[in-house]
Amino acid sequence: MKKPQLVWDIKPVSYILGKDAVSLSVKRLKEFGKRFVLVDENTFEHCLPVFKNLIGDIEIDGIIKISANSNNKNIEETIVVWDKLSEFGADRDSLLINLGGGVVTDLGGFAAATFKRGISFINYPTSLLGMVDAAIGGKTGLDFSGIKNQVGLFTNPIKVVIDPIFLKTLDQNQLLSGYAEMLKCGLIMDRDLWGSLTTLNYQQVNDWDSLIVQSARNKVDIVRHDTHEKGIRKILNFGHTIGHAIESHFLNKGQPITHGEAVAAGMICETYISSKIYEFECTQFNEIIKVIDMNFKRQELKNEDIDYLIDLMKQDKKIKEGKHNFSLLRKLGKAVHDIEVDDNTIRESIIFYIEGKNCTD
Ligand SMILES: NC(=O)c1ccc[n+]([C@@H]2O[C@H](COP(=O)([O-])OP(=O)(O)OC[C@H]3O[C@@H](n4cnc5c(N)ncnc54)[C@H](O)[C@@H]3O)[C@@H](O)[C@H]2O)c1
Ligand SMILES: [Zn+2]
Repeated sequence: MKKPQLVWDIKPVSYILGKDAVSLSVKRLKEFGKRFVLVDENTFEHCLPVFKNLIGDIEIDGIIKISANSNNKNIEETIVVWDKLSEFGADRDSLLINLGGGVVTDLGGFAAATFKRGISFINYPTSLLGMVDAAIGGKTGLDFSGIKNQVGLFTNPIKVVIDPIFLKTLDQNQLLSGYAEMLKCGLIMDRDLWGSLTTLNYQQVNDWDSLIVQSARNKVDIVRHDTHEKGIRKILNFGHTIGHAIESHFLNKGQPITHGEAVAAGMICETYISSKIYEFECTQFNEIIKVIDMNFKRQELKNEDIDYLIDLMKQDKKIKEGKHNFSLLRKLGKAVHDIEVDDNTIRESIIFYIEGKNCTD
């Protein structure tokens, strides 16, 4: 068997990243009295057969299926998980295996951590966004009362196993959504990664394996220094302050866009703001905008939407004393956090986005 590209033990979590990662995680699965797998309808169909094949003769004591809908990271689906765990006789010696995208790993982690005061869980992310972002870092939870991630816990899986084999069945929109987080990762902290991503449109990528390992490793590095997001972890929010508002805006209009599409739009606006505050070179600024535009079409926003977007930003739980605190780019590959930005600059950045401009226009 080929070796995976990375095996990391960073207490309390160990990470196996790369090709053949699932097969290499098998030994740990045997240590538990009972094993349950949490899937959604899509990962039940596409990922569970692959997973079962890779773990060989290890017995699974129950499959728990939730619906596949990104709006279903909620308490009702969590109750489904708790009910099934009870029905299957899960106890403290049981393991919950979260096999899915960010919804499954966020909700499954929360359900496991609260069932009988906590049972162990392992994350096997199957979406690109899950592999490079959601499954790593110990944030678990649910959307509640119309607010994203309103209820949740910081709690870590015992293992995160990232195997790109699952991407074969992921649809292109979802792949692109995860790609936005990879671009973000390059922009905020890894110029090498950015360099590898800039020459290609996401559809031209052949070697997902090493790009995923590089991105996931960056996230692991950040969160182990700042688990509870008191400082450096905040740089991961680059593109997300305006991005989340854009995501909510389209959701409220009944025309949902993916998280990655919203973050891509947010990154264009927040690169504009960064360039105003830190005086970027025009070539660097244009390069960033060009690469994002090469992969993501600009969303249809209107000047009349801007006030509403700014209002939405004010509801963000990261806002402090009514002030917008942004994570911005100091330069390509280096981000800073807790930077106050006024409403006018935010407004200008969205106009810049709407007008489809770059620096030399
Ligand atoms: N915990 C964190 O730090 C963190 C970070 C970022 C995002 N998130 C959360 O993650 C969620 C979004 O994650 P996501 O984009 O993975 O969404 P998702 O879990 O809804 O998955 C996207 C879609 O792809 C399907 N899918 C997943 N893997 C597949 C595969 N291999 N083959 C076929 N279909 C597959 C899913 O069924 C779903 O329909 C959001 O709820 C977000 O809040 C959490
Ligand atoms: Zn994100």
